[in-house]
Amino acid sequence: MRDLVPDRAGCLSVDGVGITRKGKALLDVSRLSLDGPGPTLILGPNGAGKSLLLRCLHGLIVPDQGQVRQDGAILNAEHKARQAMVFQQPVLLRRSVAANLDFVLKRQGLPRATRKIRIEELLAEGGLDGKTRQSARSLSGGEAQRLAILRALALEPETLFLDEPTSALDPSATQMIERMILRASTRGVRIVMVTHDIGQARRLAADIVMMQGGHVVEHGAAKQVLDAPESDAARRYLAGGLVT
Ligand SMILES: Nc1ncnc2c1ncn2[C@@H]1O[C@H](COP(=O)(O)OP(=O)(O)O)[C@@H](O)[C@H]1O
Ligand SMILES: [Mg+2]
Repeated sequence: MRDLVPDRAGCLSVDGVGITRKGKALLDVSRLSLDGPGPTLILGPNGAGKSLLLRCLHGLIVPDQGQVRQDGAILNAEHKARQAMVFQQPVLLRRSVAANLDFVLKRQGLPRATRKIRIEELLAEGGLDGKTRQSARSLSGGEAQRLAILRALALEPETLFLDEPTSALDPSATQMIERMILRASTRGVRIVMVTHDIGQARRLAADIVMMQGGHVVEHGAAKQVLDAPESDAARRYLAGGLVT
């Protein structure tokens, strides 16, 4: 499968990563290797450590123990510059829709004419053409999240992290975002996304990381994890039971 997508980001891996606060282990992941084409969906109950793991993978948090590696090398600034992240609540500038995109394109040093074309392409990709001049703060929740994703995609990242990007949205807004994510994945962006929506994992995931209590309890092909989970924790979570 990898051979079909040679441009895709290489191996992102976790080696003995631990985060402890007040004597409590919040994250304890001995090994995790994301080297498939993705999308990778991280699933698990509240407090499982999904967001902490995502922040470690993006280098926003330096773990107390262990390392995150990209292609075997400890995650560095160059690796991080090729990553982008979208949060549950979109963080947008108090400017127009176009200006929110122009801001990141300008930082990449693109000339004005090129930026204009890129903005049009991006807005079309997110179904926001026609909203160019609208204030970003007046967008609906779904539109604002689409703009946040476009802004991340404007960076042309190798890896895009998304932390529950649709959890505040209705089904039709969610569907539009899932389509954007799948298109980005098809174009070769590695997607690593947190969700607590099992249906969403079924729709999007190539592989699934199942977490509980700060641990990765299972990682495998989506179909295998969803239809024939190996761990009790994953079985209980998928059955809708309480996992403690
Ligand atoms: N900065 C922090 N200080 C103390 N505890 C934290 C901090 N960040 C997260 N936690 C705790 O770590 C655990 C995992 O959090 P998180 O990764 O946000 O869970 P999830 O995203 O799976 O719901 C939770 O118990 C949370 O309360
Ligand atoms: Mg979270």
